[in-house]
Amino acid sequence: MNKQISRRNLIKLLGISGASIPLTGLINSKEINLIKNSKESIPIKLSSNENPYGPSEKVRDAIVSAFDEVCRYPYSEPYNRISKLEKKIAKREGVDPGMVLVTGGSNEGLRATGRLFGIEKKEIIACKPTYLALMTYAKEFDCKINWVPLDKELKYDLNEMKNRISDKTSMIFICNPNNPTGTILDSNALENFCLNISKKTCVFVDEAYYDYSINDGYPTMTKLVRKGHNIIVSRTFSKVYGLAGLRIGYLISNKERISQLKKCTMAGTNILASHAAINAYDDKEFFNYSLNKNNQGLNFLYSLFEDLGLEYKKSYTNFVFFKSGHHIDKVQDFMKKKNILVGRAFPPYFNWCRISTGKMEDLEKFSIALKDFYKT
Ligand SMILES: Cc1ncc(COP(=O)(O)O)c(C=O)c1O
Repeated sequence: MNKQISRRNLIKLLGISGASIPLTGLINSKEINLIKNSKESIPIKLSSNENPYGPSEKVRDAIVSAFDEVCRYPYSEPYNRISKLEKKIAKREGVDPGMVLVTGGSNEGLRATGRLFGIEKKEIIACKPTYLALMTYAKEFDCKINWVPLDKELKYDLNEMKNRISDKTSMIFICNPNNPTGTILDSNALENFCLNISKKTCVFVDEAYYDYSINDGYPTMTKLVRKGHNIIVSRTFSKVYGLAGLRIGYLISNKERISQLKKCTMAGTNILASHAAINAYDDKEFFNYSLNKNNQGLNFLYSLFEDLGLEYKKSYTNFVFFKSGHHIDKVQDFMKKKNILVGRAFPPYFNWCRISTGKMEDLEKFSIALKDFYKT
């Protein structure tokens, strides 16, 4: 059979579901149109801060070679790669392996922490808007959230957070760099804050986007965990490493805290994710490639917003927060009609919009659509 026009190969090539098309025999022109149309209807997704370049070739190969292990539980020997990954992370971060907990995406780590602190029914202090997973989960256990507005530069307001600490406070949550604003805190200010505040209460630092700021010399707060301070750091393989769909991330804290958090996890990660993460962690080439592509995307978006005279925040992540000047519902509806998905509403910044970097061809389509938006 001619390989180029077999149904199986064409469907594979186009990367779509062939559920409605039998997989054997040759493709006819009607079916080619059907495939093309279903490909076109997949929206351009600039809404969830994923890395569309992932996973790397090395990681793809590792996943394929590990495929037969899918019938095994990921935590039992000799198939346990999670402990191996925890050891690798511990070595790079300069901590004991018992201070690392690999989770099902960092979301599972955020939720486990939300549960552990939530059941104390005390108070978590966090800024808004930010990434909500930990606080949303803690609220389910009747924990109160003391919301602090971001400062004028749309950064975490460390002074105000400090002012609000009381004997009811069980945790301070910081997302750095912050989602949705993309802003980063001054490293000395953050370090001093963590050093002082962790003497009074636990400080959680969500570093999901830390990798994007690595070349700017921003420090991770794991350096304070290493010195024994009361701090929890979360990280993820979903962003620069491009593994969002596999669900793997991790927490770093002191041993006692990590063993408490381990009891609060639910599903954990899976065997393919553990193989993928081990290989991704050592794949420097792809890491740098992703950072370069992301910088290209950021610069493209900065120029677009400057051309249109729109205010935006310099980003240390893979997305940009810009002031559209229109309610986000209107921007989202307009973009949806152009088959483009943008970030959700982030109250109280209803006139702002968060856009992920994505591939250049997707950003070009977004650029055309945004220019059209201001023409209408
Ligand atoms: C700040 C922040 N933390 C954590 C997460 C969760 O990521 P994951 O569960 O994929 O590790 C995200 C996802 O976008 C995020 O933006």
